[in-house]
Amino acid sequence: MRPLFLAAFAMLAACNPVDTNQQAEPQAERQVAPILTTPDARDDQSFAQPQVARVTHIALDLDADFQARRMAGTATLDIQAADGAQEIILDSKGLEIERIADGEGRPLQYALGAGDERRGQPLTVRIGEARRIAIRYRSAADAEALQWLTPQQTAGGRHPYLFSQGQAILNRTWIPTQDSPGIRQTWEARITAPEPLKVVMSGERLTPEGEPAGEGRRAYRFRMNHPVAPYLIAIAAGDLAFRELGPRTGVWTEPAMLDRVARELADTERMMDAAEALYGPYRWGRYDMIVLPPAFPYGGMENPTLTFLTPTLIAGDRSLVGTVAHELAHSWSGNLVTNAVWPDGWLNEGFTTYFENRIMEAIYGSERAAQEAALSWDEMQNALTELGADSPDTRLHAAGQQLDASNSGIVYDKGSIFLRTIERAVGRERFDAYLRSYFDRYAFQPMTSARFLADLRAELIRGDAALEQQLKLDQWVYQPGLPDNAARPDPAAFAEVDQAVQAFGAGGPASSLAFPQWNTAERIRFLNKLPRELPAGRLDELDRTLDLSASGNAEVLFAWLQLALANRYAPAVPAAERFLLSMGRRKFVSPLFETLVNEGEWGRPIAERIYARARGGYHAVTTETVDRIVRGPAESN
Ligand code: BES
Ligand code: ZN
Repeated sequence: MRPLFLAAFAMLAACNPVDTNQQAEPQAERQVAPILTTPDARDDQSFAQPQVARVTHIALDLDADFQARRMAGTATLDIQAADGAQEIILDSKGLEIERIADGEGRPLQYALGAGDERRGQPLTVRIGEARRIAIRYRSAADAEALQWLTPQQTAGGRHPYLFSQGQAILNRTWIPTQDSPGIRQTWEARITAPEPLKVVMSGERLTPEGEPAGEGRRAYRFRMNHPVAPYLIAIAAGDLAFRELGPRTGVWTEPAMLDRVARELADTERMMDAAEALYGPYRWGRYDMIVLPPAFPYGGMENPTLTFLTPTLIAGDRSLVGTVAHELAHSWSGNLVTNAVWPDGWLNEGFTTYFENRIMEAIYGSERAAQEAALSWDEMQNALTELGADSPDTRLHAAGQQLDASNSGIVYDKGSIFLRTIERAVGRERFDAYLRSYFDRYAFQPMTSARFLADLRAELIRGDAALEQQLKLDQWVYQPGLPDNAARPDPAAFAEVDQAVQAFGAGGPASSLAFPQWNTAERIRFLNKLPRELPAGRLDELDRTLDLSASGNAEVLFAWLQLALANRYAPAVPAAERFLLSMGRRKFVSPLFETLVNEGEWGRPIAERIYARARGGYHAVTTETVDRIVRGPAESN
């Protein structure tokens, strides 16, 4: 602990007013996480002033109203405040506040201040002496964190569905709290929903079967006793079934999906063991997953104890379970040690991408891991080319500000390659020992780039001037482009595939490709390395011979469609349309629309036609990005 940088308020349990909220435990028993007060830890995407007053615990008591598409009820917040503090500032986006009261039910004054489209509004509450406040409110019908699905948008087709996505700053659309990753909070929740829906959340389930809550509704209660960044509070409700995978692991999904999903994710328990062997104990109890309907906008989201996953991972051959390793790895990098501010997002995602690859190596061997690392290198190179190697957006520190496809090659891939570079320089054993101690020493704390570098210097480099010079730490973190000491991928990883690319590029026939025998990574590498311009005849030959438009692997299909559409290959349009109507994962949806729009008079009408049909099924995260591509910046929102 570095007391200079930490501001952990003294516990104020003694002056806590009478506990009128039946759910809440006494404040004094809970762990309160420190906040950082250095300038680099100042979060300008939140209105909170945590040095004045901060939330330590949230108790939600909400009804999921599927008719109105709103969450409605009460959020009771426990607060620590500096001496003399008169108010607390929360984040709110579209919340309709009905009443705010203190712990004894006396109304408190509050005001929604001036905000902006991105961040929402500051909700300032005059707390006076109150250290517990109860907010009666409901979320807006278009809350961006929440997606309310019709039965038609689910696999079963019979029941509606709800899921949330908090990262990065969306949870303020359904939870009135300080929505900043550096302000960790414990939480508990009681959620009511119509029968027969089941409710799951990213915490311990206290009522597995739910409890009767009147009028055909059931109540489900949850608790998270570790302080977490508020973006990690998540909910899903629907016709859900559960299958155990191992002693600590299991999966939720719709009944129709359960068998396929359980088979695909069967290696998860072993991944957990491998992760623990690398970086120390898993501290969250269970590790369950939920495979959501296809509208889920991400590949995966590391909600504690309950990773959220896209169904596009279910390829039938476990070829895409790197995403499971990734979300699991976030249980250390991200959920245990958390970027204090989003511009330092590489501390979550770069560490996790490195850790993911180490888990993949432990479970599936060094060849598969080397291939996935080589694909990650390609992603980084593409990002550097697209952004320009001298662009400030290629700096690790800062790149996370806007976390999307345009810079994931920096945040994820340059970030992980940085760590790989350190690993190679000091040796795996030493680096593993360092990382393990890093997670132990900073567990449940916020992190910044500067804090990490200071720790690395103190604990790993320890004044070794030659090593310091060799690593180029500041260049990696604060400068654009790629330092020349970057750990390169194994050139043997795709030797055969790259030869095949050459042969095909030189006019060789598709029929002589070993593509049918290749694994998914090899197929992706092949498609991504083909010349970007190919005549229709050659695309036709590829499609017919390799049956690409019919690929059941979402990553392979995506790589193919990118190539085909960029070449105005019309026979691939029906497959693209089917794909874009079948799921809403932004990583696939947004580049495909972009490719179409870039093909002007040929592609734009196709993009507009498909988007008109597909948009209603997409999550706000996806439409926010695609609106800008298809409708143009002026017309978005
Ligand atoms: N935490 C991210 C998802 C995320 C990133 C949500 C930025 C909101 C803003 C998650 O861990 C992730 O990285 N998902 C990836 C998969 C991964 C294997 C690269 C995804 O969704 O594709
Ligand atoms: Zn991630």
